[in-house]
Amino acid sequence: MAAPIWLWAFSVSLALIPSAFGNSEGDVLYTLRKSLVDPDNVLQSWDPNLVSPCTWFHVTCNQDNRVTRVDLGNSNLSGHLVPELGKLEHLRYLEVYKNNIQGTIPAELGNLKNLISLDLYNNNISGTIPRSLGKLKSLVFLRLNDNRLTGPIPRELVGVSSLKVVDVSNNDLCGPIPTSGPFEHIPLNNFEKNPRLEGPELLGLASYDTNCSCSIDFFELCGVSQNLGFSFSFSWLT
Ligand SMILES: *[C@@H]1O[C@H](CO)[C@@H](O)[C@H](O)[C@H]1NC(C)=O
Ligand SMILES: *[C@@H]1O[C@H](CO)[C@@H](O)[C@H](O)[C@H]1NC(C)=O
Ligand SMILES: *[C@@H]1O[C@H](CO)[C@@H](O)[C@H](O)[C@H]1NC(C)=O
Repeated sequence: MAAPIWLWAFSVSLALIPSAFGNSEGDVLYTLRKSLVDPDNVLQSWDPNLVSPCTWFHVTCNQDNRVTRVDLGNSNLSGHLVPELGKLEHLRYLEVYKNNIQGTIPAELGNLKNLISLDLYNNNISGTIPRSLGKLKSLVFLRLNDNRLTGPIPRELVGVSSLKVVDVSNNDLCGPIPTSGPFEHIPLNNFEKNPRLEGPELLGLASYDTNCSCSIDFFELCGVSQNLGFSFSFSWLT
């Protein structure tokens, strides 16, 4: 008689696993909702009391009820992105273009190892491009154009060989434009309207670090801030 009880308990716990994931991903998205200003009520269906966020508008899940897409382009949203987004480990598309999002790009987005598309263009995002985005080994589309980003284009992005489209035009980036790896095929137009960008990197000659690496704001010191960001988030997690 022990075996069936054990089996029953086992299958109950298996059945609970997907909804536990669903809830935690719903919590992440609800944290995002609370951080956004939504005058057109596009997030009205984002109800944290539902078992999973998979029935919410603008959210797509896979067959295991894990979130794979968040589609909030052109939705008249303002407010900030949240670091918790980095926990949506099956996310493939993060589409938040053409809104009025402020604040910075959370370094935690670098944990989204399945991310194919990061579209944050046409917002009011400031701060630096996190070096952690170099960990996104599935990334194909990185469109950050038409924001207020500062600092350099992180060298780490050269290692993201899947990248096909990079657009960072119309920001306030500085330093050289990478030319190796995936950047070999990115047209220079996609870097224009950054008055402090210095033009294509001279491979093997100029050192990549220029006076561009730091901004005035202490918390936006390039490199330093990203590293601090990581150790802070680790200490939060542990
Ligand atoms: C966007 O939101 C503002 C309020 O913040 C509102 O006045 C405006 O009509 C909205 N625009 C559209 C296209 O919904
Ligand atoms: C962009 O954000 C800044 C604050 O970071 C704000 O002063 C400015 O009005 C915003 N621009 C628009 C177009 O909303
Ligand atoms: C580096 O940048 C800072 C702030 O942008 C500026 O004050 C400083 O003069 C620059 N240093 C050099 C050596 O260009």
